Amino acid sequence: MEKIQVNDITLAYEKLGSGAPLMLVHGFPLDHTIWAEVANLLKDKFTVILPDLRGFGQSTTVETTYTMSDMADDLAGLLDHLGLEKVALAGHSMGGYVCLAFAKKYSQRVSGLGLVASQSAADTPEKKAGRYQTADGVSKKGVGLVAEGMSSTLSTDAAVQAFVRPLMESQTPAAVMGALKAMAEREDTLSSLSTAPFPVTLIHGDADMLIPVERAREIKAALPSARLIELQGIGHVPMMESQRGTADGLRLLLE
Ligand code: MLT
Repeated sequence: MEKIQVNDITLAYEKLGSGAPLMLVHGFPLDHTIWAEVANLLKDKFTVILPDLRGFGQSTTVETTYTMSDMADDLAGLLDHLGLEKVALAGHSMGGYVCLAFAKKYSQRVSGLGLVASQSAADTPEKKAGRYQTADGVSKKGVGLVAEGMSSTLSTDAAVQAFVRPLMESQTPAAVMGALKAMAEREDTLSSLSTAPFPVTLIHGDADMLIPVERAREIKAALPSARLIELQGIGHVPMMESQRGTADGLRLLLE
């Protein structure tokens, strides 16, 4: 992977293919490898940029508290490094929260926004408290706690579970705790989407147990110009469970 220094961290990324730039942002607590097959399907038409968010994969993090907006700043730093003023970007779940923070802060740099199994809603008070409890648990017992709790709710597909579980277990406690707190403190971004000067595509499995498809339908209801692609029988990891469906949906971002 290539590595750059930005905002006091080392940010690792991969870049493949050629054509209009498309950045794919992974979710929690994963890394860029989750996009491998979709990136292969898209690299004929796009320059696909695959960052590891701060703390995950080969990127480093800081011990201080940070926000979705800080994570969005990392991505802006990566675009500066690549000499790219504008990109289409798509985020999976937490990656979608980062993309939404990016789109709010840098709307002029976004040519299209994809949300894959994600949402614009903030946490409920209960969910927020649960995240802090989980972060406390991770500080005492390690990241296995999260991997154990999440792997079966991400997907019912055994092959997907077998891929994501060790990937989750390989992340550091600092990254997992930092991201949990950043997710807990994120704001609702629906109102900023309503004035978005770029097309929005929503890709969501109707069997998602982690973020129900209703969250995507709510965005579509508030933003009728958004495209909503519902993938039948697909859970929280569409880019692995429906590689072609996800890739085809993302292609629409730049067509
Ligand atoms: C993710 O899959 O990125 C996270 O589980 C999303 C969340 O917890 O809100």
